[in-house]
Amino acid sequence: MISFYIKTYGCMMNVYDSNKMADLLVSKGYTQVLNPYDADVLIFYTCNVREKAVHKLLSDIGRLKFVNAKVIAVGGCIAQSEGKRLFERAPSINISFGPQTYHKLPEYIDKVLKGERERIIDSTFYKMDKFLSCPKKRNVSISEHIAIQEGCDNFCTYCIVPYTRGREYSRPVKDILEEAKWLLDNGAQELVLWGQNVNSYHGEAPYITIGHHKATWRIEQLLQAVAQLPGIRRLRYSTSHPKDFNEALMYVHNEIPLLVPFTHIPVQSGSDRILKQMNRGYTSAEYLYKLNKFREICPAIQFSSDFIVGFPGETEEDFKDTLRLVEQVKYTISYSFKYSPRSGTPAAKMLDQVPEKIKEQRLKILQDTLLQDQITFNKALVDKTQEVLFYKKGKRVKQYIGKNVYMQSVVVESEKDLIGKFKDVLIKSAEENCVIGQVV
Ligand code: 5AD
Ligand code: SF4
Repeated sequence: MISFYIKTYGCMMNVYDSNKMADLLVSKGYTQVLNPYDADVLIFYTCNVREKAVHKLLSDIGRLKFVNAKVIAVGGCIAQSEGKRLFERAPSINISFGPQTYHKLPEYIDKVLKGERERIIDSTFYKMDKFLSCPKKRNVSISEHIAIQEGCDNFCTYCIVPYTRGREYSRPVKDILEEAKWLLDNGAQELVLWGQNVNSYHGEAPYITIGHHKATWRIEQLLQAVAQLPGIRRLRYSTSHPKDFNEALMYVHNEIPLLVPFTHIPVQSGSDRILKQMNRGYTSAEYLYKLNKFREICPAIQFSSDFIVGFPGETEEDFKDTLRLVEQVKYTISYSFKYSPRSGTPAAKMLDQVPEKIKEQRLKILQDTLLQDQITFNKALVDKTQEVLFYKKGKRVKQYIGKNVYMQSVVVESEKDLIGKFKDVLIKSAEENCVIGQVV
């Protein structure tokens, strides 16, 4: 029996792809192992959004080169954009496969094992094929992601995703509902509808409407349908693009009680000049208008965001605009990054690159500010009761960790096993990155 080990880097989409790939290989008779030293086939599933990931991958492959694996495969976004260079830099790699080709992996591994091919590179954009080729998920968790849409047509000038994941496409509603039903029937209670840009979802409707040959559904309709499925207790979606976020989706939050009052709307920068250079398609005033409208329609809503500091040409004044926007929104949780030039993207060629030292300084200031807002939000929850879904055990005995509707970690101690259970928890105290509570 052939064994394989997968190491995944990067975002939830990569975790989702890796799970699909593992299920596919197991259905073909392979065994998954958790130790790379036990594996015949090593698979590295990569992310290329920021530079660090490439260094990490090459050092990991370098570190493991003495392992007796018969096949080394590198997949995902680095393989898509730099497959040939990877082959030059790491002679031990046999297979390089892009994010839309992983359904072909069993065939390629077979070819290398049989000695028919020493090296295979595939960066085709097959789109739907991978979803149709993969079996149903084996080990279903309490909280599961479903890819509803993939790829991106936005071409933000800093971002590699449109080049690695390809153009935007939406999975048909029927396929998504089938996957959702399977996950719920097999133990999932929380579903996250996932994609690079879910609010531009336009998937083929499950039936043909009169006058329309091929009606499509938007995310609002999809959320309504998933929320009706038996067994679902909590529903989320991510990631949204501010320019595509419309009022219909805001109202859906009031119509579906199990849809969490929390959404991720990455703004990236608070400076209109930089937003234009980034090709984001909105101004900071337009962004703020949408968030305020959302709060008006759904007062419980909370927001998270992504930020990039040190985009080419970002001045002190531009950076202050970002701080001013943060001050106005008050995010519950956020992710911020130093701009990292990605080869092949327009921003990498811009002349006025910001020195690393300044990026570091700005990142620290922004992260400190965001953390203060996060702590304030956490503290405001003290003495309140929250519904928490418990996912895992904590480090200490009898300790359990769950998430509230705002995706914050909630830590409790309990004599009873809480994993997979929804419980009302009274929040007793707040830390920087979690809140501590007691089951009521
Ligand atoms: N440099 C830094 N951060 C980036 N992101 C995307 N591309 C880059 C880049 N070149 C960030 C954005 C995006 C998140 C997933 O990664 O903030 O929202
Ligand atoms: Fe990248 Fe912009 Fe598309 Fe997001 S919207 S994936 S940042 S190109």
